[in-house]
Amino acid sequence: MIKPTLLIVEDEELICTQLKDGLRDDFTLLFAEHGREALSALKREQPALVCLDLGLPPDPESAEPGLEALDQIMKAAPQTKVVVLTGTGGRVSAIRAVQLGAFDYHHKPIRLHDLKVALQRAAYFQAIEADVEKQRAGEAATRCEGMLGRTSAIQEIFAVVSRIARTDVTVLIQGESGTGKELLARAIHSNSSRDRRPFVAINCGAIPDTLLESELFGHEKGAYTGAHVQRKGRLELAEGGTLFLDEVGEMSALLQVKLLRFLQERAIERVGGREVLRVDARVVAATNKDLKAELQAGRFREDLYYRLSVVNLTLPPLRDRGEDIVLIANAFLQRSDKQHRRKLRFGSSALEAIIHYAWPGNIRELENAVERGVLMARTKFIEARDLGVEVKDGPDLASLREARNRAERNALVDALAKTRGNITQGARLLAVSRPTLHGLIAKYQVNARDFR
Ligand SMILES: Nc1ncnc2c1ncn2[C@@H]1O[C@H](COP(=O)(O)OP(=O)(O)OP(=O)(O)O)[C@@H](O)[C@H]1O
Ligand SMILES: [Mg+2]
Repeated sequence: MIKPTLLIVEDEELICTQLKDGLRDDFTLLFAEHGREALSALKREQPALVCLDLGLPPDPESAEPGLEALDQIMKAAPQTKVVVLTGTGGRVSAIRAVQLGAFDYHHKPIRLHDLKVALQRAAYFQAIEADVEKQRAGEAATRCEGMLGRTSAIQEIFAVVSRIARTDVTVLIQGESGTGKELLARAIHSNSSRDRRPFVAINCGAIPDTLLESELFGHEKGAYTGAHVQRKGRLELAEGGTLFLDEVGEMSALLQVKLLRFLQERAIERVGGREVLRVDARVVAATNKDLKAELQAGRFREDLYYRLSVVNLTLPPLRDRGEDIVLIANAFLQRSDKQHRRKLRFGSSALEAIIHYAWPGNIRELENAVERGVLMARTKFIEARDLGVEVKDGPDLASLREARNRAERNALVDALAKTRGNITQGARLLAVSRPTLHGLIAKYQVNARDFR
């Protein structure tokens, strides 16, 4: 098993011995007696973790030398997770240490079990962040116009998009609200040969039926009361380009027929018009309804469904996107942080909330929560309360399966983080066979290599 490297900065021999005995099974240990030595070890060995005694020479009674060392460590290696040790009455220095960027603190006398848990948690977050960093480096290759995602479900969607974008095939995008349906539709358009022509969007759920008809197909002068001039519909406006039909499941039966006719004949008639107009527009439709269920309930035409879903793409909800949640959250943080110039990072409680919250509003909700977090953060760390999301402790019965899946996935990620992606050790930790662990890795789309 690859153990995380832990640099212990401590001048008291007795404590060093105690820590060595208690921690060497879980960490690869390095020792330094004072700040200067710690900095050179940091540069040389790049440990994932530092355990720093604040009472260091030359003045072990004061926390100042320790805080000074912490400051230098954070500047030299901001990705390192530091857990500080404070003497009696060390609350004030503990708070100052956290403000300077320490991950956690532990009051002396040392309780080995508690300290070990704090260090393991630190190692876990360090591994996640290192992973995000790696993802960021490799982002260019997986990018689809601002759509982030490395999990295989999203990568598969990107692959389909690159295969079908340049054809004129009709695409149906399904997914809960806020999962990126419009972004994906735009990606299809801009990867197509129609990208210099308009992308025209219309939300079928937001416009009353009678208006929707003339919005889509246009109308002739005098077609109805108030139609003082002839007007082109969105389909005509999308000539040569792409028409994005959002919430297509909301269309009335009448409009479904008209749309079907357009998809079959590529021709329309304006409302109140006699002329048949040929229109060359590619249709990409989206819905957050289960259209198959709408078919069965008789609310959506089967023939139209098959015309629309020549290619059918389903965007998974954010809570099923594994590590992408942290990847996307970090991207939003970077963007928002730049806007507000705050140099913030996620604190551990925020990262935990981001991973465990169910995100019913998906990526849009995450985007808003991060923006809120940037505005609300009181220190240079965003904490869970700043995000304004509530992580439920107890699952309700309706979502028991979901809760089980999530617990299973968390255990998997924890085990991989602890063993740095070692399958044999990870399987042992979870008390399952190696094939079972591989099965879990496939099911939750986690990449063991990312934890190394
Ligand atoms: N994979 C992604 N990476 C980064 N940002 C994303 C991703 N997917 C969506 N977003 C962002 O999330 C927000 C919501 O996306 P979008 O409007 O495309 O969702 P939608 O499915 O159309 O939502 P609705 O059903 O509510 O209309 C947008 O700000 C979008 O830029
Ligand atoms: Mg939308």
